[in-house]
Amino acid sequence: MQTDTVRGYFLRLSAWPLASEKPTLVMLHGSGSTGVLWEAQVADLADVANVVAVDLAGHGLSEGPLAASVEEYAAGIAGLVPVLGGSNAIVCGLSLGGAIALQVLLDHPDLVAGGVLLGTGARLRVMPMIFQMIEHDFAGFVRGMPVGAASPKSDPALLAPLMAAISENGPEVSASDFRACDAFDVLDRLSEIDRPVLVVSGEDDRLTPPKYSSFLAEHIANARLTTLPDAGHLSAVERPDAVNQAIRGWLAELPARFGAPLGGAA
Ligand code: COA
Repeated sequence: MQTDTVRGYFLRLSAWPLASEKPTLVMLHGSGSTGVLWEAQVADLADVANVVAVDLAGHGLSEGPLAASVEEYAAGIAGLVPVLGGSNAIVCGLSLGGAIALQVLLDHPDLVAGGVLLGTGARLRVMPMIFQMIEHDFAGFVRGMPVGAASPKSDPALLAPLMAAISENGPEVSASDFRACDAFDVLDRLSEIDRPVLVVSGEDDRLTPPKYSSFLAEHIANARLTTLPDAGHLSAVERPDAVNQAIRGWLAELPARFGAPLGGAA
C-alpha cells in the first residue's frame, strides 16, 4: 500500500499515479475514523480498480478543519476527485461516508460514474445515547464498538485498527461526525440519482438496519442490493472478502449498466 497527501487529504492508495484504464474507487470512511477502514479493499481490489482511501478533512493525517455537514464533506470530495486524475471515479462510502457518497451523486453527478453504499441510508438519525457516550465515556464508547456496531458472529480483533483510529481522533471528531449524520436527510431526493449504485447491507446491522438499504435500492433507479449474512455495520472490516467480491462483481458489469466504456476510453 502506498500513501500520499493530495490537496491536504491523506490517501491510502493501491497505486500512484493512478492507472488510467481502471475505474477509481474513492473510499470514504464512517464517523470518527480514518481510511484505515478500507485497508482490505486497498490491498485486494487493486487488480480491477485504483483504490483511494481518503482520510476526511480533520481526520487522521488529513488537514482540518472538520466539515460541519455532509454537504460540506461532499463539496470537499468533489474538489479532490478531479485532481486525482483517474477516469471514472466511483464514490464508495460506509455510514457517514455513504451519506457523503450519496451527496456527491446528488450534487456533483458529472464527476462520478457510480457509487457503492455500505451500511448507510438516506436519513441517518442518531440515538441520543451515542452522543451521551461520546461526551461522558469516550473510551467506553470505543471499547463497546464490537458489541454496538459489529455482528455477534464477527471476530472483534478485526476492529482493532479502526478502534485505535477512532480513539486517536478523539471525542470531538466523533461527536461532530454524528451531528452531521443526524442532520442528513435525502429520503426525498433519491430518484434524482441516475448513476449505477451498489448497495451493501449487513444482515446484522443495527445502526443502519437492512431496511435503510432496501429503501436505497428501491428508490435509486439503477441500484443493486447485496445483503451479507453474518455482517454488521462495519462490513468492510468484518467481512472483507464478501464485500470485495460484491464490489468486484458489480464493477465487472458496470460498463453495461452505465452504457459507456470504463477506463481510459471514457
Ligand atoms: N431509510 C428508510 N427509512 C428510514 C430511514 C432510512 N435511512 N431513516 C429512518 N427511516 C424510517 C424509520 O424506520 C421510521 O419508520 P417507522 O416510523 O415506519 O418505524 C421513520 O423513518 C422515522 O425514523 P427516524 O427518522 O429514525 O426517527 P425516530 O424518532 O423514529 O428514531 C432513532 C430515531 C435515533 C431512535 C432511530 O433513527 C434509530 O434507531 N437509529 C439507528 C441507530 C443509530 O443511532 N444509528 C446511527 C446512524 S449513523
